Parts: sequence; structure tokens; C-alpha cells
Amino acid sequence: AAVGKGNYRHFMEKELHEHPAVLGDTLRQYLDPKTLEVRLPRLPFDPGRVPRLTISACGSAFLAGAVGRYWIEELARLPVDADVASELRYRNPPLQEGGAAILVSQSGETADTMAALRLLREGGQKVLSVVNVPESSMARESDGAVLTVAGPEIGVASTKAFTAQLAVMACLAIGFGRARRELTTLDEGRLTQALLEVPSHAAEILEKDAQIRELAAEVAKARDVLFLGRGSLTPIAFEGALKLKEISYIHAEGYAAGEMKHGPIALIDSNVPVIALCPSGPLFEKTASNLQEAAARGGRIMAFTDADGVGPLSRFAERVIELPKASAFAAPILYAIPVQLLAYHVAVLKGTDVDQPRNLAKSVTVE
Ligand code: AGP
Repeated sequence: AAVGKGNYRHFMEKELHEHPAVLGDTLRQYLDPKTLEVRLPRLPFDPGRVPRLTISACGSAFLAGAVGRYWIEELARLPVDADVASELRYRNPPLQEGGAAILVSQSGETADTMAALRLLREGGQKVLSVVNVPESSMARESDGAVLTVAGPEIGVASTKAFTAQLAVMACLAIGFGRARRELTTLDEGRLTQALLEVPSHAAEILEKDAQIRELAAEVAKARDVLFLGRGSLTPIAFEGALKLKEISYIHAEGYAAGEMKHGPIALIDSNVPVIALCPSGPLFEKTASNLQEAAARGGRIMAFTDADGVGPLSRFAERVIELPKASAFAAPILYAIPVQLLAYHVAVLKGTDVDQPRNLAKSVTVE
């Protein structure tokens, strides 16, 4: 059946508002809310024994994989290589015997990701794909597939499929951590609990729409925009920049906040809004001090944080938007939503074709 826009102006807007439902559906598939345990489907490799993991994908799907790398290395102590599929396929990577790979894709039809899949399988890796379309080529050609339960995504800019990919990667990371005996039952319960709170936090974030629209009015005037994050929020900063470029045609870059001083800080002046993803937690102080350096050079800091971050950041930031207080583990899933909303509102203000941006296809089936 054809999917409609309902009462929304664009598919992207509708899909943004599906976040709480999609995240709930995806997490319920892989978490048991009663026992607080992860329930993974049968995997084509034993995560307890695999020596090394390769993660590959394109665009936003790659960025979901890149967050997965932070989680899997941290929680499962499993070494991960992550590379975009268009590079991996020609890089002739030395693949380890007994190794495994995770490929991420909404459509399951992306040509570069398919090529990486075949290369990895020919190189003896067991390939698990994280896909949204169960009957897709990637799902069929992989050794196993884990589904995101995002439903059809029509807008070219990925929204709910991206956060659903993150939710699956988070469940995999917990499952791998347990299989490798890096997590206690208590740890698993705490992490699972944090994920179970994500759908309601996502709904709270969607209620910040008016504040994000005000921020969008500022961002829409800019020629260049910088997105900063640290740790597992770094790929979300990249995602914010990708989304803004993709649908508003404003030049944007994502950077690891600590890397600013090695170059990009030269760009800072009062014309470049700096969108900071800065939840409270272990990396807060470090990120805040990177932001303060940018502010001291005339940079206009627009920060997303939680209740504990509002006070310290308000001392130098031009705008601070408070998001719900979540565990550091779940933060990348939640902070993806406001950057998508921001890109959406900027694109609407700019009058671009939000659902069908120029030069782009929903699924890139050519090389
Ligand atoms: C996301 O907003 C983009 N449209 C794009 O980067 C996309 O994520 C990429 O082309 C991968 O597509 P896939 O998930 O269908 O493989």
C-alpha cells in the first residue's frame, strides 16, 4: 500500500515524528523489558570468539556504524575497523581469519555496500547486515540479518531509519559485551534500562520543535556551519553536518571537538554558527572547554545539552537547548533527533525540496 504524508507537510517531517514509535518497536524486538536482557537473533558468528570486526556502510548508515564502533569497543572490548564502503571495496584490507563484519543499510540495495559485502565474504568474513528492508539484496546475500523496524522511509534524508540503526547497534554492543564476559548482569540491566527510556525521551525532544525552529532561523542565514561532538557524539556531529548539507544546501562540517585546535578553529568568526552536542557526562568538561575556546574567538555557540549542562554552557553560549537527561550510552540516539529536526527546519525556511533534494537518490544503486 502507498504510504501517505498524513497531516504532515513532508515525508521527512512525518518520519521525524515516528521516532518514538520506531525506536520502541526496534528496541522491543531485541530487548526484554522484564528481565532487562538483550535478546539477539541467531548470529552468523560467535561474538565471544571473533577476533576482529569490520563495520562498513555509506552515508548516514556508515555514521550509525561509526557510533556502533564506539559502543562495541567500549562494552565488548572487541577491536573494530570502520570504513565507508566506497573506500573499503578498493582498499584491499588485510582481513583476519575468523573475523566478522557488520554492514548497515536502510535500503539494503546500496551498490558500494553490496560490493563491500561481497569482498568481505570472499575474504572469509561472516557478514551480518543491519537492514530495514527484509527482502533486500543485502539481507539475502549476508550470512545473517538483523532488522531495523523503521517501516518505509520515503524522505531521501534518513531520519527514523538512522536512529533505528543506532538502536540495533546498541543492542548488538550489549549482546557482544555479554558474550565476551565484559558485562555483568547488572551492567546489562543498566544499559538495557537506558535504552528502554529512549522512546519517551525521543518524544520529549520532539516537543522542543519551537526552540529548534528558532535556532533554524539563525542557521538558515549562515553560509557555513560547524557541528561539534566528542566520543560517541562525534559521528552524530558528522550526521548533523551531512543532513544540513543534504537538504538545505548550506555548507557544514562535523568535527570532533578536541580536533578543532588543529585547524578548523581558524574558521571561527561570528558568521559561523557552531552547533555543539554536549550532554553532561564523562566528556562534558573537555567538550565545554573546546567550545569556550571557540567562543573566545567570537564563535557563536548553539548548544544541545541536558539540565546539568545548561548552567555551565550558558556562561558563554548564545543559545542552549535543554534535552532530557539520559545516560551517556543512549545520548547518540537522542542527540541525532534535534540535528535532524534542525536540518529539516532550515531546509523548509530555505524553500528547498525537502523530500527530494537535488542530485540525490534515496538508494544509490550505482557506483
Ligand atoms: C542519508 O540522509 C542519506 N540520504 C544517505 O547518506 C544514505 O544514508 C546512504 O546513501 C546509505 O543508504 P542505505 O542506508 O540505503 O544503504
